[in-house]
Amino acid sequence: MNDKTAENIEEIRARLEELRGLVRYHSRRYYIEDSPEIDDAEYDALYTELELIEGEHPELVTPDSPTQKVGGEPLEGFEEVRHAVPMLSLANARSPQDLREWDARVRRLLDDENDLENLRYVTELKIDGLAVSLRYEAGRFVLGATRGNGTVGENVTANLSTVRSIPEKLVGEDIPPVLEPRGEVYMALAPFEEFNRKQEEAGEKTYANPRNLAAGSIRQLDPRITAKRPLTVYLYGVGEGYEAYPSHSEALAALKGYGLRVNPHELHNSIEGVIEVCERWVRKREEVPYQVDGVVVKVDSREQQAALGSVQKAPRWAIAYKFEPLAGRTKLKDIIVNVGRTGAVTPQAVLEPVNVGGVTISKATLHNEDYIRERGVLVGDTVMIERAGDVIPQVVRAVTEDRDGSEREFSMPDACPVCGEPLVRPPGEAVLRCVNASCPAQALEHVIHFVSKTAMDIDGFGEKLAEKLFDLGLIKDVATVYDLRTEQLEPLEGFGEKSAKNLIRSIEKSKSQPFDRILFALGVRHVGAVTARLVAERFSGDDLLSGVTVEELSEIDGIGEVVARAIVEYFAIEENRDLIGRLKERGLDFQAISSGASDGPLAGRKFVITGALSEPRSAFANRIEAAGGTVVSSVSKKTDYVLAGEEAGSKLEKANKLGVVVLDEAAFRELLF
Ligand code: IVH
Repeated sequence: MNDKTAENIEEIRARLEELRGLVRYHSRRYYIEDSPEIDDAEYDALYTELELIEGEHPELVTPDSPTQKVGGEPLEGFEEVRHAVPMLSLANARSPQDLREWDARVRRLLDDENDLENLRYVTELKIDGLAVSLRYEAGRFVLGATRGNGTVGENVTANLSTVRSIPEKLVGEDIPPVLEPRGEVYMALAPFEEFNRKQEEAGEKTYANPRNLAAGSIRQLDPRITAKRPLTVYLYGVGEGYEAYPSHSEALAALKGYGLRVNPHELHNSIEGVIEVCERWVRKREEVPYQVDGVVVKVDSREQQAALGSVQKAPRWAIAYKFEPLAGRTKLKDIIVNVGRTGAVTPQAVLEPVNVGGVTISKATLHNEDYIRERGVLVGDTVMIERAGDVIPQVVRAVTEDRDGSEREFSMPDACPVCGEPLVRPPGEAVLRCVNASCPAQALEHVIHFVSKTAMDIDGFGEKLAEKLFDLGLIKDVATVYDLRTEQLEPLEGFGEKSAKNLIRSIEKSKSQPFDRILFALGVRHVGAVTARLVAERFSGDDLLSGVTVEELSEIDGIGEVVARAIVEYFAIEENRDLIGRLKERGLDFQAISSGASDGPLAGRKFVITGALSEPRSAFANRIEAAGGTVVSSVSKKTDYVLAGEEAGSKLEKANKLGVVVLDEAAFRELLF
């Protein structure tokens, strides 16, 4: 190697170091502190440059590079890790009285020498995830382990490295040479629901609760799979290295200073203050965007903790005030099947009503036939059900000991329970579908989607009205919306001559919507507003009817095979072709649209993105921009939408104050897909 090349390599190495530092810093601002300093495009530019240089110089890639968060090679199995400081569990309290008794014992055990007067407690939420230990040596993440049995856990370093809120390198001063922060890896409820929804769509395994999914993700042998799961971490303690801090609260403050994500906590001078907080969380538990199962109360002073010590596997200086479980046990009376808007036919459990965490549950989802089989659930079984946040309750398992022989196996019907058409199970999917677009079960849902703001935008046509018109037999499918007449509407409750005329006018007006809107409004599977636009720029309705192929559609940039196939299948079905014919007769315009026009489905709409989402913000920003919208950084009256993730802060508050529409991830996807 001549001098010139050596110099070059040094320059490249220096630039790489600089880029890694910048990417680390800004990703911390984004993922951990929720206060980015640069916009997503700038961040992406830094990241891309880093990736490019590393791509050209694989020999310069270091394991701690932020690009390595995507996950390395699969493992054969997990190695054992012995915890130098055992990972303890917690004793439980179930009532304020239990807490008072615990406080009395703490006081009894601590004498004046331990400075009883300064006894303070810390409360923090008990997160229902997976306990992990993160070992940092000289500020670098070297070992990540599960709790295991408390003494020996599993080495899951490669997987934990993919979690974006776990930094490879700590920042700041006075970091103990060996520091072992401990905490809980979890998945927030919104990304959990989104994940399950996608799995269900794709006919893949769904999870009963975020805990199972988080645990399953961390114990994946292939870290590239873990990297795709929106996991995060909250740290709530320190194993090795704890001596550096005089108290729990000071340790947490220090962790925060090193750039770690720390469980929110409060300090109290008396057990009555602790009880108040516990009772507050019992009331507000469902407002927490992730699953929690109690409040952990800890003695703050490290010296007092040491004086109290542990019994068996639990410290005497901490206790968990447990919430009522969000699980229950009841009888599965029957299994019925439902047909949704996309035609997905899903089994639903009819339950003997049971109270679960304050809500009476009489129905629960069973997802699909495989789900029922895997859990061996029979009609008539006693079953365990679980509820996670606002998710529809799920049947988790059957209590087989309770069987008396009267239980029977369930199988899915061959024909749609509503329209009688044969059901199909697309290859590789777990879900059965009714593909008849005129199926009345789907028709109402179809109409609601068709008339909605992002689709045909028929002003004044809401969900309630759609239901009413359906019940009265005035509409049967989306085409019959165009047959409505003023005289039919006028006599209806809530209508007068004027409002009836207005609605008819809005319906008429919608006939001039461009083809991409119509295509989106038709509700073809996988076809959101953006996809619809891409297709409509290339093909007219007639093209699609006369047999555009999967290959031709896949040639469009941004359209994959699954989507292409869904479109081809839709246009091949006789009932759908008939529906389109009737829409054309009524004057809807199925001509291809000109490309490049700046009027995407979100044209002129201003978005602010805040909080922790299941993917990088740039991914959402790209989608918004592809649909013609713009992303701005601060909320004002001119903002149209705030896309808010987990733990959104001041921007969300401001949006609420100004009455700006707030979307969660699910609502955002609805808008686009
Ligand atoms: S402290 C020495 N704090 O609960 C005390 N644990 O039953 C050790 N957990 O396995 C635990 N949130 O996974 C602590 N804020 C919190 C917690 C928490 C959840 C879990 C942890 C542990 C279990 C203890």
